[in-house]
Amino acid sequence: MLCKKGDFLKNKIDYHIRNINLSAEGEKRIEWAFREMPVIRTIRTRESKNLFKNLVIGACLHITSETANLVITLKGCGAKVFLTASNPLSTQDDVAACLVKNYGISVFGMKGEDSRTYAKHIKRVAEQKPHLVIDDGADLIVFLHNNPDFARNVIGATEETTTGITRIKNITKDGKLLFPVIGVNEAQTKYMFDNRYGTGQSAIDGILRATNILVAGKTAVVCGYGWCGRGIAKNLKGLGANVIITEVSPLRALEALMDGFQVMPVEEAAPCGDIFITVTGNARVIGGSVFKKMKDGAVLANAGHFNVEIDIDALGRQSKGTRKVRPFVTEYTMKNGKKFYLLADGRLVNLGCAEGHPSSVMDMSFAGQFLSLKYLVENKMSAEYSPVPAEIDSEIAFLKLVSMGVRIDTISAYQKKYLRSWNL
Ligand code: ADE
Repeated sequence: MLCKKGDFLKNKIDYHIRNINLSAEGEKRIEWAFREMPVIRTIRTRESKNLFKNLVIGACLHITSETANLVITLKGCGAKVFLTASNPLSTQDDVAACLVKNYGISVFGMKGEDSRTYAKHIKRVAEQKPHLVIDDGADLIVFLHNNPDFARNVIGATEETTTGITRIKNITKDGKLLFPVIGVNEAQTKYMFDNRYGTGQSAIDGILRATNILVAGKTAVVCGYGWCGRGIAKNLKGLGANVIITEVSPLRALEALMDGFQVMPVEEAAPCGDIFITVTGNARVIGGSVFKKMKDGAVLANAGHFNVEIDIDALGRQSKGTRKVRPFVTEYTMKNGKKFYLLADGRLVNLGCAEGHPSSVMDMSFAGQFLSLKYLVENKMSAEYSPVPAEIDSEIAFLKLVSMGVRIDTISAYQKKYLRSWNL
């Protein structure tokens, strides 16, 4: 639903969403998520209502109930927020409606939007000439670098994910970074929790919601043994799957082996797998030669940021037809007669087929986003890439523990002195 003149006047904001009448459902979803976001709740009560006063924040994030709680908190601290989707399939349309209607936040995104609309929405947010930018995958940050007129006001940006940070480091290497960027994914309170437990659970949730297959007894091939891959592999094993890991890093491959998984090249794993999940951050991890060796009925899912890990063009070329057999499940009938099932068009399976990570992990990741934005406003930083400051990381862990009612020991003066000495 593109905002009409009347809507614009009534809501006093610009937006482009599926259906504003879904707002009541969205409100319940946002409330449900908030119950599980104690760190964001603490931040909301303790931070100044003027922290982001007169600042425009451009956010390119998955439009979910958890993101809603972040942007409502930013607005509560005085920011004018413009939110666009960071993936064409991840938007929760009821949440988008609620943000526009009940909170007066400009939202641009609808589940299933085409690539042109996705790009137009990013432009619409960039055109607001934001002072602060929050990104997940760096599409907005890259757009601003390609259109520097829109980047003139930017004080700094935060980036949520591994893929986005790789892109920003590449801009930096080319000497082209225009403003400071803090990589939220490099906080321990992000990757050790969101990537491992969040993706570890939500990717499997997406596969199960889409297919309703039994995992026990199946062979699952997990491509990539980073923090996300570790989480997925461990949970699949817990559900009774026989798990094979494929890797390009000798260290990670060795770790996977010692964690009790089989390790082999993807070409060798191809004929064994019932379920394939890519989570590498790289392109064409499962390509044409692998499809030729896969067995009939294989399910293909991606949990990496972009839809490039499974070579969908090669899949199309080797197939003689496709049909949608369930929501977000495309059956490919190959020229050799085998059938494969691609989930969410090769996009993020956890957000395409399910609801993304549980709120309690997004609570920590988004606390990292909020506190990093605060840091950017309060500290003059140069146009460089930096990880989240260590004190922010431990503050988030501390607040999470407090919310769980868990107390820990404190280091004594004697112990501090001991750690500083060498002549024991
Ligand atoms: N990334 C993964 N899960 C998410 C969620 N629930 N909300 C926003 N971004 C996410």
